[in-house]
Amino acid sequence: MNIYYGGDYNPEQWPEAVWHEDVRLMREAGVNLVSVAIFAWSKLEPEEGRHDFGWLDRLLDLLHENNIGVCLATATAAPPPWLARKYPQSLPVTKDGVKLGVGSRQQYSPSSPDYRRLAAKLVRKIAERYGDHPALELWHINNEYGCHVYESFDEDSAAVFRTWLKDRYGSVKKLNEAWGTSFWSQTYYAWDEVSPPAAAPTFINPTQQLDWRRFCSDALLSLCQMERDILLEVTPEVPATTNFIGVHKPLDEWRWAEVLDVVSNDAYPDPGSAEAGIYAAFQSDMMRSLKGGTPWILMEQAPNQVQWRGRNSLKAPGVMRLWSLQAVARGARGVMFFQWRQSKAGAEKFHSGMVPHGGTDTRTWREIKALGQELQGLGEVLGSRVHAEVAVIFDWETWWALELDARPSHDVRYLEQVYSFYRALWQQNITVDFVKPDADLSGYKMVVVPNLYLARDEAAADLERYTQNGGTLVMAFFSGIVDENDQIRLGGYPAPFRNLLGLKVEEFDALPVGATNTVKGEREFSADLWADVMTLEGAEALATFTEGFYAGRPAVTQHAFGEGSSFYLGTRLDAAGTAWVLEKACQQAGVTRERFPEGVEVVRRTSEQDSYLVLLNHTAADVQLELPERAADLVRGEAMKQLTLPPYGVSFLRTQKAQAAPIKEAQMD
Ligand code: GAL
Repeated sequence: MNIYYGGDYNPEQWPEAVWHEDVRLMREAGVNLVSVAIFAWSKLEPEEGRHDFGWLDRLLDLLHENNIGVCLATATAAPPPWLARKYPQSLPVTKDGVKLGVGSRQQYSPSSPDYRRLAAKLVRKIAERYGDHPALELWHINNEYGCHVYESFDEDSAAVFRTWLKDRYGSVKKLNEAWGTSFWSQTYYAWDEVSPPAAAPTFINPTQQLDWRRFCSDALLSLCQMERDILLEVTPEVPATTNFIGVHKPLDEWRWAEVLDVVSNDAYPDPGSAEAGIYAAFQSDMMRSLKGGTPWILMEQAPNQVQWRGRNSLKAPGVMRLWSLQAVARGARGVMFFQWRQSKAGAEKFHSGMVPHGGTDTRTWREIKALGQELQGLGEVLGSRVHAEVAVIFDWETWWALELDARPSHDVRYLEQVYSFYRALWQQNITVDFVKPDADLSGYKMVVVPNLYLARDEAAADLERYTQNGGTLVMAFFSGIVDENDQIRLGGYPAPFRNLLGLKVEEFDALPVGATNTVKGEREFSADLWADVMTLEGAEALATFTEGFYAGRPAVTQHAFGEGSSFYLGTRLDAAGTAWVLEKACQQAGVTRERFPEGVEVVRRTSEQDSYLVLLNHTAADVQLELPERAADLVRGEAMKQLTLPPYGVSFLRTQKAQAAPIKEAQMD
């Protein structure tokens, strides 16, 4: 199997003469897949019902003649200006009632019947015209749903929201119960009285806001589903994807992944941030997890700098390769870029391209070409899978509910919390899968549950069963606080987890910005953000607060539960403290730890026959490594027990663990 290599290709921005140079260079760089026509609606349909496919016919033929596959877009991401002029009610409206106009992209209300009708027609046309084209490999549905417009407060959206609520609740009475509308005289007597949570005098009903979040994800999903259904009808054998924008709050990606054949992602880690490499790994692990470990595609990344941050750092030599190969190590079957040729005009003219403004005598091009050639030798790893012993629970509903406006601390941010645990595990070279709260956890030695604020009954029961049956669970504060309607679970916090954790939280303190407390156990750590004031009911304190009126009260606990064990963090510990708790839990769970120098990332992949070790140096210096087992470099073939990785260097190694495909002795010395 080949690793896909290529990028977004926007030939409509260039005269046709340039296309010939494009395909020549694509071949030189080993490009085998390009995403085409993502923003081409206005070129494909100059006025309603009149189409111009000639240029796209010629382009697809040219690509095919050159053995370049096509990930063909449905072209619905940027409606043409005529659509807004003819159907102004299709434009999205902000919370404050401002209608968003043309001149950029994604200017449609997800619930606009006009947009839906016209998009559906276009998708069908494209599918019928190109469904049999030999270059077609994959459908690229729309582009980054919800990137700019993830909600719209127009009248169509309000009407569809009401229908969605009717389906969910069946009656206004049930809606009133779920939303707790006895509070502040909000009781509804007719569906027409219910509206989206647009601008209001003060805090809007939290359940209304939560349902709006659910609805907005579903409204976009129904667009994606609409396109998917048409494609499935016309071209049942061609797989389809849509590109996510990483771990993106507006879309419940667990549900979205069910609609897609392949998950794909756009990853733009900030080269100016020291965290970028870890955050990229976080995203990759999520993408791999969304469809249970099946290969995903890195659909977009920048060849070098982007143009949309305030300050756009360059990727130092080697960094583009490092992050690309990291994605492959963590399950990607494609390494793609935005975009092929750097634009001459438009808002993205300062965004790097695989072919920069400066042409081929540039560092970017040389790195692009070298990577394309290298990937051709790495295809065999696609036959293997990443194996994780640890699962981290990730839940979009919790993300939405936990970040509503009226709550104990605005500084508790879900993604930051999850990431802080991910980061600590990454630094200990522990690979994780992300899972839904109600996933089957039985295959994992340890489960981390960061701030599962919204806990459904089934999820709570599953976590309890998992631990009861011998699992090790690590849970952080502000978990199990509300049910799916954002109503408090009474009976002492965290009501559904009190047994499992062996404790009761009576109060929680939100620490002012910059304030800390010291937490003392075997060692001392700094804590901030939050403090649970808790009483133990069977758990033991591993560390206690040392300051304030709750000095001496437990901050971190452990509880033997059934055959397993639970750990609880009633505060946010500093990085060393988080690592300390996780290390204890890993020991308890028997999680394997690989010991490598700081800044070196390790990923293991296995198939029935083979096993691979991928080593990635995230530092700007050489690192000397002692390998845990003898291993052969996949590209160069040499076997070794030591290895020096250059700055940002990566090595794909086949290890000796694989019995069926032993490393040839001749290669070893
Ligand atoms: C993505 C988008 C691309 C391009 C890119 C620039 O979000 O899908 O079309 O705009 O960002 O970084």
